[in-house]
Amino acid sequence: MRTSNCLLWLAASLCFDLATASPVKPTVDPSNRPSCVPAESPARNKICYVDSHNDQLTDDSNYILSALHECNNGGHVVFPANQSYLIGTALDLTFLQHVDLDIQGDILFSDDTDYWQANAFQQVFQNATTFFQLGGKDVNVYGGGTLDGNGQVWYDLYAEDIYILRPILFGTIGLHKGSISNLNLRYSPQWYNFVANSTNVVFSDISISSYSKSNNTAKNTDGWDTYRSDSITIQNSVVNNGDDCVSFKPNSTNILVQNMHCNGSHGISVGSLGQYANEIDIVSNILVTNINMSNATDGARIKVWPGNPAALSGDLQGGGGGGVVKNVTYDGMQITNVDYAIEVTQCYGQKNETLCFQNPSSLRIEDITFKNIHGTTSGEYAPLVGTIVCSSDTTCSNIRAEDIDVVGPSGSDEFACLNVDDSLLIGLNCSAVTSQSN
Ligand SMILES: *[C@@H]1O[C@H](CO)[C@@H](O)[C@H](O)[C@H]1NC(C)=O
Ligand SMILES: *[C@@H]1O[C@H](CO)[C@@H](O)[C@H](O)[C@H]1NC(C)=O
Ligand SMILES: *[C@@H]1O[C@H](CO)[C@@H](O)[C@H](O)[C@H]1NC(C)=O
Ligand SMILES: *[C@@H]1O[C@H](CO)[C@@H](O)[C@H](O)[C@H]1NC(C)=O
Ligand SMILES: *[C@@H]1O[C@H](CO)[C@@H](O)[C@H](O)[C@H]1NC(C)=O
Ligand SMILES: *[C@@H]1O[C@H](CO)[C@@H](O)[C@H](O)[C@H]1NC(C)=O
Ligand SMILES: *[C@@H]1O[C@H](CO)[C@@H](O)[C@H](O)[C@H]1NC(C)=O
Ligand SMILES: *[C@@H]1O[C@H](CO)[C@@H](O)[C@H](O)[C@H]1NC(C)=O
Ligand SMILES: *[C@@H]1O[C@H](CO)[C@@H](O)[C@H](O)[C@H]1NC(C)=O
Ligand SMILES: *[C@@H]1O[C@H](CO)[C@@H](O)[C@H](O)[C@H]1NC(C)=O
Ligand SMILES: *[C@@H]1O[C@H](CO)[C@@H](O)[C@H](O)[C@H]1NC(C)=O
Repeated sequence: MRTSNCLLWLAASLCFDLATASPVKPTVDPSNRPSCVPAESPARNKICYVDSHNDQLTDDSNYILSALHECNNGGHVVFPANQSYLIGTALDLTFLQHVDLDIQGDILFSDDTDYWQANAFQQVFQNATTFFQLGGKDVNVYGGGTLDGNGQVWYDLYAEDIYILRPILFGTIGLHKGSISNLNLRYSPQWYNFVANSTNVVFSDISISSYSKSNNTAKNTDGWDTYRSDSITIQNSVVNNGDDCVSFKPNSTNILVQNMHCNGSHGISVGSLGQYANEIDIVSNILVTNINMSNATDGARIKVWPGNPAALSGDLQGGGGGGVVKNVTYDGMQITNVDYAIEVTQCYGQKNETLCFQNPSSLRIEDITFKNIHGTTSGEYAPLVGTIVCSSDTTCSNIRAEDIDVVGPSGSDEFACLNVDDSLLIGLNCSAVTSQSN
């Protein structure tokens, strides 16, 4: 697992041709790459500039595709600063190999909701779709530019119909060895990053932010969701959103999340898992460390569906799936105004605990450590500051806590601990007997 730092990329300066009042190609040095680029990544020896209509009205997708094809296998593709792009076509970028995308300019995705619903890439899991899919081997994306998902039109449409398919802004699909760093991600229609079928990828120095200008909130704006992926690092990033800051979906292994500032989120979450009956979900070897968590519903969270079907909402239902959550460590989290500092549930989606306990989860939770979690909750569930609820006394084992110092605004520090071994929860005040949230 990598722990590299990613220094900020120093964007090459852009010259401006006063005579024609149009930007000229900036001078770039392809050897000037962020330090999170894998050391084994060979130097790039060709430069391609991506042309643009520069009006954010005309689709620039063909310019992008032709630059990527021209510079694939050893090139450095520049989207110059002061140049803006519109993407109105679903781009399959899984052919990339040994190429750097130096995105200094701004990329906007078109607001044609009919087009995207028909053409965005279907990733199957939870009906996820992505504007583009970027994959291949040895690909690095950086440059300080912005990808803007034009989310407002989607937030408003979703308020009318929860079954519309809202594209994910950044699809990292089948990428093996690479890095995505120093980018601004704005106004995603739903999740910001979906990382699937990928290995050995580092995300670093990413800024995420969205808000809705209407009364329809921007929903399901997860920062990252990892799925069927191994050896992924997510670090040094700031996330302002309204759903999971980072979420480990089925078959996420060897993941490091460190040095994150999450504001307004649903915490850093394992799951939800066990949603699909007859499927096996594995999440293992996860380390989450040095996190600031503010204005959130949760800090450290593990959510697993019970053994029988349950419905959280019309478009989110499930339960009955098997598998295991194993070897997950949360070490170092400062919380401020967070509803639950720690929330572990094997009753996700089932508000009736009696029903949950009658049909315990088929997905086990093992070898979990929570430590160095400090700060104050919001008081939303006072006197509770956290909850650890397994669906039977045999479906969880070795859940440990130490050095937890969390209180509510009025000083209470109770945890609801059900079907877990309290003696391993050192210092937790497991005096409460009630209940959990969704
Ligand atoms: C070009 O971009 C730079 C950096 O983003 C900015 O400082 C400068 O004002 C821009 N120039 C023009 C003419 O837009
Ligand atoms: C991942 O790979 C599997 C197996 O090749 C494939 O079925 C699936 O569509 C791919 N993508 C995702 C998002 O799972
Ligand atoms: C996709 O959404 C439909 C409802 O529109 C739901 O019935 C189905 O289970 C969802 N599929 C997945 C894989 O989540
Ligand atoms: C949002 O809701 C409030 C209260 O219901 C209303 O006064 C306001 O006009 C609404 N704003 C917009 C932009 O719809
Ligand atoms: C967390 O917040 C503290 C206090 O504001 C700050 O010193 C620290 O750098 C922050 N760490 C991260 C990873 O954001
Ligand atoms: C954090 O999120 C809250 C909403 O939950 C927002 O009001 C505030 O501006 C955000 N803080 C920062 C620094 O963006
Ligand atoms: C996850 O891994 C398990 C164990 O290897 C496998 O049975 C299952 O099919 C995988 N699930 C997905 C969605 O790839
Ligand atoms: C547990 O996960 C960590 C990564 O967080 C890894 O370093 C360690 O080797 C794993 N332990 C076992 C027993 O697999
Ligand atoms: C939390 O939200 C409040 C507004 O609700 C905001 O003032 C504060 O800056 C937020 N905290 C952080 C760390 O962003
Ligand atoms: C919860 O489920 C149990 C068992 O089916 C039932 O007896 C009880 O009435 C349910 N409680 C609520 C609040 O629905
Ligand atoms: C646990 O919480 C209860 C109820 O708030 C309180 O009376 C008790 O003093 C707490 N115990 C400890 C050890 O903090």
